[in-house]
Amino acid sequence: MTPAALVERLRAAGCVFAEDEAAVLVEEAAGSDVRLEELAARRVAGEPLELVVGHVDFGGLRLAVAPGVFVPRQRTVLLADEAVRLAADVEGAGRAPVVVDLCCGAGAVGAVVAARVPAAVVHAADVDPAAVAVARTNLPSARVAAGDLFDALDDAIRGRVDVLAANAPYVPTEAIATMPPEARLFEGAVALDGGADGLDVQRRILTGAPAWLAPGGHVLIETSERQAATSAAAFRAAGLEGVRVVRDDERDATVVVGRRPARASRTPEPVDQRPVLPPARQHRVAREQDPTADPLAPSAG
Ligand SMILES: C[S@@+](CC[C@H](N)C(=O)[O-])C[C@H]1O[C@@H](n2cnc3c(N)ncnc32)[C@H](O)[C@@H]1O
Repeated sequence: MTPAALVERLRAAGCVFAEDEAAVLVEEAAGSDVRLEELAARRVAGEPLELVVGHVDFGGLRLAVAPGVFVPRQRTVLLADEAVRLAADVEGAGRAPVVVDLCCGAGAVGAVVAARVPAAVVHAADVDPAAVAVARTNLPSARVAAGDLFDALDDAIRGRVDVLAANAPYVPTEAIATMPPEARLFEGAVALDGGADGLDVQRRILTGAPAWLAPGGHVLIETSERQAATSAAAFRAAGLEGVRVVRDDERDATVVVGRRPARASRTPEPVDQRPVLPPARQHRVAREQDPTADPLAPSAG
């Protein structure tokens, strides 16, 4: 098959980036026409390119992927970059950061952190045993475990996690039917379905996160631009502070970041039981109590 014929076949099958895909398939076939035909036939039948060749390039790494396991998306590089930055800050402060890649899938986020922050102690977990198996290949130095969210984590890191990163399912149940067939047919519902508004798993992560984070530790969750405000509100409802939304338009990527307060919140101030004064008296009392108050400030009355 000539390169031009391959591009034509891929284009006819609906592959938007037919030239790029053809180059990947040719590289993978390594000169074997029989192998190239086999790979092309699978791709033309609708199998995602990454599954056909068995790997994905992500954040400068070549990672293994496996049938049924969510293929890491390029937008998730933003989550990995943010996790690297926060872990590097901890490393820069002279500590080995404890980093968790929760809902790890193939372990892409954890793998990037492990590669770029060598001191990081990386833990990863996923409910899907097939994902755990491929994550173990991509994260040979990490502890990778199977189980429901925090149930899978080693109890020894409870209250010690510096960076908790998650790209959990966030597609609203009803929207799954509108996803491209590559996702609908080749990735399990457990990897996509985030419940009625898409944020069920995120909320469960945020409820559990404070108990696992170190004081001042960060949690980062990928979400969509449309869901970002609701995700951020869930961060605040979980008691996280410094909540911010990081956006990368080029990758259409959105990540919400929050921090466990460094210290337990202060005990409430004692209630002031003095009688409430009329505004004019309040102003005078304030000036009497604060010698720096502007004496020329207009009086309330
Ligand atoms: C959207 S995929 C993302 C995978 C990976 N983080 C990535 O970015 O490539 C979501 C992952 O969450 C996992 N997952 C869903 N519900 C989970 C749960 N309750 N506990 C742990 N993992 C879960 C799925 O198996 C899937 O691998």
